[in-house]
Amino acid sequence: MTVATETRAPALIPENAAFLSAKVLWVRHWNEHLFSFAIERPASFRFRSGEFVMIGLPGEKKPLMRAYSIASPHYAEELEFLSIKVQDGPLTSRLQAIEPGDELYLGKKPTGTLVLDALLPGKRLVMLSTGTGLAPFLSLMRDPDVYSVFDKVVVAHSVRRVSDLAYHEEMTGRLAEDPLVSDEAAAQFHYVPTVTREAFHTSARLGVLIEDGTLFSGIDGGATLDPETDRVMLCGSTEMIRDFAKSLEAQGFVEGSNANPGSFVIERAFVG
Ligand SMILES: Cc1cc2nc3c(=O)[nH]c(=O)nc-3n(C[C@H](O)[C@H](O)[C@H](O)COP(=O)(O)OP(=O)(O)OC[C@H]3O[C@@H](n4cnc5c(N)ncnc54)[C@H](O)[C@@H]3O)c2cc1C
Ligand SMILES: NC(=O)c1ccc[n+]([C@@H]2O[C@H](COP(=O)([O-])OP(=O)(O)OC[C@H]3O[C@@H](n4cnc5c(N)ncnc54)[C@H](OP(=O)(O)O)[C@@H]3O)[C@@H](O)[C@H]2O)c1
Repeated sequence: MTVATETRAPALIPENAAFLSAKVLWVRHWNEHLFSFAIERPASFRFRSGEFVMIGLPGEKKPLMRAYSIASPHYAEELEFLSIKVQDGPLTSRLQAIEPGDELYLGKKPTGTLVLDALLPGKRLVMLSTGTGLAPFLSLMRDPDVYSVFDKVVVAHSVRRVSDLAYHEEMTGRLAEDPLVSDEAAAQFHYVPTVTREAFHTSARLGVLIEDGTLFSGIDGGATLDPETDRVMLCGSTEMIRDFAKSLEAQGFVEGSNANPGSFVIERAFVG
């Protein structure tokens, strides 16, 4: 992992009663549009794998906060995030400059629907993501509970460019370096990347990969999605979620929530 070195004094933030504050531990830049970072996990902070939380920096009058999926699993000592860099984005134009030792605000109440609790039992868990929608699935794929609940854990990630394939090596290597899930992942984890706007071995959108069966090649179970045995999680752009939710419902899948578990769940990776 590339760890940024400190080049200036850490940027500390004033205390705020509404939020926790936490120090940045490391930063990893994937390309000019994407980076990952981790912060210390405050002792009081609890979450379920797949949830999101507000994080931010001091603003003009009050902290400038944005929703972020937590990319690390619920047992991890640090809180990891995968972030876009929006050129003129109020938060990310500044957040992309963070360095180890800097402080961030962290919301006190993580929440979300991309959690095991919102799904009925099943055999295959199929997680479909575009862009930074991969983040909550990074949390779930590194959670041992996921491998005891499902026989097969499939993560599909669609991006525009090859360099947008964050965590590609780790996932291609079936999480072999992860001390807690490497054994389970070797047998149960499947990673299906696709790059839609540059040359790559797989270049169709996720819907096409499902229709032509590519998504399931080499994975036990049928070559199509089955609402009896498959459970689906969606995270990506509004358009992607709308398209897939419609198609899943037409196939007999029922949307789940924390209160009423179902056969698929959704979360927008951003509001755009
Ligand atoms: C439930 C939820 C979870 C989220 N989780 C993440 C996450 O894990 N990682 C992450 O980077 N962002 C995530 N976001 C988006 C995040 O909240 C911010 O929008 C993002 O950090 C940009 O903030 P900003 O202030 O720089 O720009 P904003 O003013 O918030 O956004 C400006 C524009 O940039 C585009 N944009 C914003 N976020 C993204 C994105 N992630 N991918 C592509 N285009 C984007 C949209 O067109 C948006 O209108 C999430 C949003 C929601 C609602
Ligand atoms: N990734 C970048 O290079 C980049 C960099 C900076 C800023 N941005 C901005 O960030 C925003 C989002 O960019 P993004 O690349 O993260 O997300 P995106 O445009 O949603 O594309 C990510 C992936 O999702 C696919 N996709 C989009 N809509 C889909 C749908 N309805 N069904 C199935 N697949 C779908 C795309 O395929 P297609 O390629 O076929 O659309 C692509 O493979 C845009 O406003 C963009 O301008 C992107």
